[in-house]
Amino acid sequence: MEKRSQWGSRLGFLLAAMGSAIGLGNIWRFPATAYENGGGAFFLPYLFALLTAGIPLLIMEYTIGHKFRGSAPRSYGKISKGMEWLGWWQIAVSFIISTYYPIIIAWAFMYTYFSFGQSWEKADSATTFFVTDYLQLADAGTFGSIVPSILIPLILVWAIVLFFLGRGIKKGIEVANKIFIPALLVIFLIIVVRAVTLPGAFDGLDAFFKPDWSSIFDGKVWVAAYGQIFFSLSIAFAIMITYASYLPKKSDITNNAFITGFANSSFELLAGIGVFAALGFMANQTDQAVSDVVSGGVGLAFMVFPEIISQMPLPGLFGVLFFLSLVLAGLSSMISISETYIAGVQEKFNISRGKSITYGGGLAAIISLFFANQGGLNLLDTVDHFVNNYGVALSGLFEVVAIAWFAKSLKDFQNHADEISDIKLGRWWRVSIGIITPIVLGFMMIQNLRSEII
Ligand code: PFF
Ligand code: NA
Repeated sequence: MEKRSQWGSRLGFLLAAMGSAIGLGNIWRFPATAYENGGGAFFLPYLFALLTAGIPLLIMEYTIGHKFRGSAPRSYGKISKGMEWLGWWQIAVSFIISTYYPIIIAWAFMYTYFSFGQSWEKADSATTFFVTDYLQLADAGTFGSIVPSILIPLILVWAIVLFFLGRGIKKGIEVANKIFIPALLVIFLIIVVRAVTLPGAFDGLDAFFKPDWSSIFDGKVWVAAYGQIFFSLSIAFAIMITYASYLPKKSDITNNAFITGFANSSFELLAGIGVFAALGFMANQTDQAVSDVVSGGVGLAFMVFPEIISQMPLPGLFGVLFFLSLVLAGLSSMISISETYIAGVQEKFNISRGKSITYGGGLAAIISLFFANQGGLNLLDTVDHFVNNYGVALSGLFEVVAIAWFAKSLKDFQNHADEISDIKLGRWWRVSIGIITPIVLGFMMIQNLRSEII
């Protein structure tokens, strides 16, 4: 049998795992989620979720990948024959994400390109340009008149993703992340420093950090914290299992999980500061309250930010930096999502990696081109909603229940991790995965179903 590919270094693995974790969820999902769920007080449930679900599950997924050295279906299948389907389920969710995620990256690409063309002296036309385009999108519910132009960046996104995937684990995925993640960090730091030194920035930060302590008695806030942690750490999407399956035998799993978890949360905090400083600036410029300008998601990135940027000094430069940061954050996550099914299909059907990339990546690329033509923001929302409910909540729930209660593997996994890691796992780890996480996810599931009916 062919020897399994491996990461070239520990740093390579860590950067790839961080690359998957750090994504659009950090930049446009976290800030608004924190703000809406208690502001400064949100950090309490958030930290609790990180320590009782995020990091414990990362440790578990790293252990599974490392121990069984296989893609998600194969690894789950080795825990118990009846569990292989769970791997396919998670891969299916990842596949679906990979058909619309690249469209968002393509937008960011297009906006980067527009910002380039936006020389400093023509600054004030930036708003008109961005906003008119966005409104056209929203209006038509499709990509309207810019359909032809989205196809070019979308093809470019796929070319980049498939290029790195095609070069394999060490020469492809690892190299990509070694370029993308440090670049992302530098660019993002420049943006945040600029944002916090703009007039009004502190009003924004004030709004962001102001704690509403009553929120911590609200179950919804806790569910939001766990939801954010799961999505943000790419847990229960087959990704971390796949990436960990390329780890060498001697790897400090537990330590790696703590580093990934804290790096992702640090980036999230940084993004929260940057986004809210910028929103404070915008409120200041337009004589509005910060609460009136808060938003998240596609609207924040492609409508509100262009407006903010066009009011800043050097809009062209900051436009390029901001949208490039979205591109970099998105690409590294996109590579990780696609790797799940490429590895899964390759192993299942015993075909070459190249073939698996051609079929799996090719199919996802074709579907995404179709989405770009037919769909629009509505489609994106629908798919996102579906992924959060049936990806995060349901597949996370199946994962912990199957492993902790049916296969009863926790003790076994703990020994595996402890043998190769400095930090030893205690009872907290088993309680987090076997009891706390299933309760929270069960609650989340019920809540999702209820809001579906109403
Ligand atoms: N973890 C990524 C983020 O926070 O943006 C998003 C993500 C990537 C979620 C890949 C799910 C996934 F499969
Ligand atoms: Na994240």
